[in-house]
Order: sequence, then structure tokens, then C-alpha cells
Amino acid sequence: MRIGLIGCGEIARRGHLPALKALSDFRVEAVADQDIERARRVAREFGIARTYAHAQELVQDPGVEAIVATVPPVAYKEIVSLAAAGGKPLLLEKPLANSLADAQFIVDTVKRSGIKAGIVQNYRYYAALRDARNRLVSGRLGKPVSVHILLHQHSPLSWSLSPWRFEGTRGVLDDIGVHAFDTLIWLVGSEPRRVTAVGANGLPCCSFLNQVCTLVEFDGGAIGEVDLSWLTGPMVFRVSMLGTGGRLFSDVLYNQVSEHHGHPMPTGDVALLAKKFVFMLRGTMNGSLFTGALMFYRDLYRDFALYVKGANSDFPGVETGLRTVRVMDAVAQSLAGGAAVRL
Ligand SMILES: NC(=O)c1ccc[n+]([C@@H]2O[C@H](COP(=O)([O-])OP(=O)(O)OC[C@H]3O[C@@H](n4cnc5c(N)ncnc54)[C@H](O)[C@@H]3O)[C@@H](O)[C@H]2O)c1
Repeated sequence: MRIGLIGCGEIARRGHLPALKALSDFRVEAVADQDIERARRVAREFGIARTYAHAQELVQDPGVEAIVATVPPVAYKEIVSLAAAGGKPLLLEKPLANSLADAQFIVDTVKRSGIKAGIVQNYRYYAALRDARNRLVSGRLGKPVSVHILLHQHSPLSWSLSPWRFEGTRGVLDDIGVHAFDTLIWLVGSEPRRVTAVGANGLPCCSFLNQVCTLVEFDGGAIGEVDLSWLTGPMVFRVSMLGTGGRLFSDVLYNQVSEHHGHPMPTGDVALLAKKFVFMLRGTMNGSLFTGALMFYRDLYRDFALYVKGANSDFPGVETGLRTVRVMDAVAQSLAGGAAVRL
């Protein structure tokens, strides 16, 4: 697949382009960035032939078959319209949009044009999350009753100095919140119906949201709880689930999943510690321990290629992105109004 990538910032350089370079079925033909010097630097670094300053020029490049957009979400509306007009498939980084109206516009534009348009949800590739979901889908835990997700990450300033994450977005919600709510809906497997949230700025010097706790009620009665923060030092990503037939705990970053039916025995913790130790040792030796979700872009692109061919119906499309934005929009409304919000 001949790719044209728009937006040569951090996630392009650290996630997408290294993965695409390693895949023999993909070739990056051209890159674009409104900062043309950055586009040229990245093209030199990854050996890419053509550079553009405008998304439109890249989409119209006849050598480009499919578009990847790794720009701030406010720019997706325009890029989707261009790709739709050019009839080219598209992969967008998360979140789909910073507002429900923009997300709906994108879904409508994609539907009208008939192009395939996917959204990056790389956290779904964590082995411990896949394992947890497989156990749920297999019925081992019975019907889901509650799912609790704890996702704490240090401030994104350590990732990029670009100011857009702090201006005109919903802070931690539009950043790691997208991953957490997508994971929650993917695990529970039914439609979210009502949202109640509390949140705080947490740092008196900043004007953006960096701490949010949310309850999500689902069709069928399951309850989700999402605890998000940008304020803690180390990253934490844990999921615990209760079903009518058992309980499951997953320490996602350290690849641990434990399932309990009946009373948990302390000996189970020894086995978990041993598993965690082996995971850390292996990750330290092969350098993968702290690269986290950046490791998954190769698998994600293989799945995207199948999705474009119509052979992978599990790949999240823009409708999935819209559903997550709808939940985050309800969270923002609940925070503003101090009450539950129906979806
Ligand atoms: N899935 C993940 O784990 C993950 C991680 C980080 C970022 N992201 C997402 O990736 C996207 C980019 O994030 P980033 O950290 O790389 O940001 P960044 O600020 O480092 O890079 C964005 C780049 O886009 C360029 N740009 C902005 N508007 C443009 C336009 N209209 N046309 C062409 N170029 C334009 C900027 O000049 C910049 O080079 C965001 O949507 C973000 O949410 C996802």
C-alpha cells in the first residue's frame, strides 16, 4: 500500500513511520506538514521521496493510494473532506474530533463518499487487554457487571511541547480519555446510556482539565468506572472486571491477567509477581519495556490493510470514533452541569 502521511510530529516520527518502514507491504510515498521544514527533515530521516506543505497537494498526489493523518484533531474535518473527494482510504489518529458536531460531520462525509476510514485505537493491542476481552467474550466471567479502568499518565509535556493539547481541547479527556473510554466500551460490548462525571484542574497554575472520574451506565445494566489523571508521575493502566461468573484483574502495562472464581488465595499473587518479573526482565533486555503502545503500530497497519480490502470487520472505523467522542461530550456536559447526562 502506497501511503501519504500528513503531520510530521511526534506520533508520526515515533510510532507510524518506524512501523511503516519495517513493513514490506507498505511504502510511504510522500509526507506533508504545514511546517515544510519539518516535513523535509522527516522525509530525510525516513528516506521519503516527496514533501508537501499542504494536505491537499498530498491527497492529489497520484502515487499516493491511502492517507494517514497524524495532525491535531481540529484538522481532521478538512483532511477527511479531501480524502473523500479523492476517493482515498484514510487512517486517522485518535481522537476523531474535539467536538460531537465535528465527529458527526466526519462520519457523514465518509458515509456519503463510501471510502474506508479507520481510527487508531492502538491501546486495544495490549496483550493483557486482548486476553481480558477474550475471557469476557468466551463467557468465563458470565455477564459483565462492572468494569473499572484506572489510567494515569504523566503530563504530555514530556511527549511534545506543541501547545494544541492545552488550547481548545478537553485536556486529559481528549488525550488519554479516548483510549480509556474506547477500552471500556470494547470490553463491556454494549451501548453506553448515561454518564456522570466529576473532575478538577488539580494544578492551580493550569487552565485545563487534568483529573476526571466518570461513571458510565450501559444497556443491559453493566456499570463502567473510568479514573483518568495527568497528575501522577508514573504511568498506571489497570482494569478490574466483575461478571456474574467471576472476577478479573489486569495490570495492562506489565501484561498480567488474573481470573478469580470464588475466594482468591494469596498464593495466586506469587505466580503473578513471577510473571511480572519475567515480563520486566524480557522488556529490559529487548528495550520494549517502556515503549508501550508505540510497539503496536505494525500490527495495527497489517489490520488496516485488511480493513481497506474489506477483510477485517473488527478494525475500528470512524463510527467507533464518533461513539467515543459522544461519551466524552457527555462527560464534559456532566462536568459543566454537575448532573448525569443521557446519551
Ligand atoms: N494513539 C496514540 O497513542 C497517540 C499518541 C500521541 C498522539 N496521538 C495523536 O496523534 C496526533 C498528533 O499528535 P502529536 O503528538 O504527533 O502532535 P505534534 O504536535 O507533535 O505534531 C502534529 C504535527 O501536525 C502538523 N500539522 C498541524 N496541522 C496541520 C495541517 N492542517 N496540515 C498539515 N500539518 C499539520 C504540525 O505542524 C505538527 O508537525 C493527535 O491527533 C494526537 O491525539 C496519538
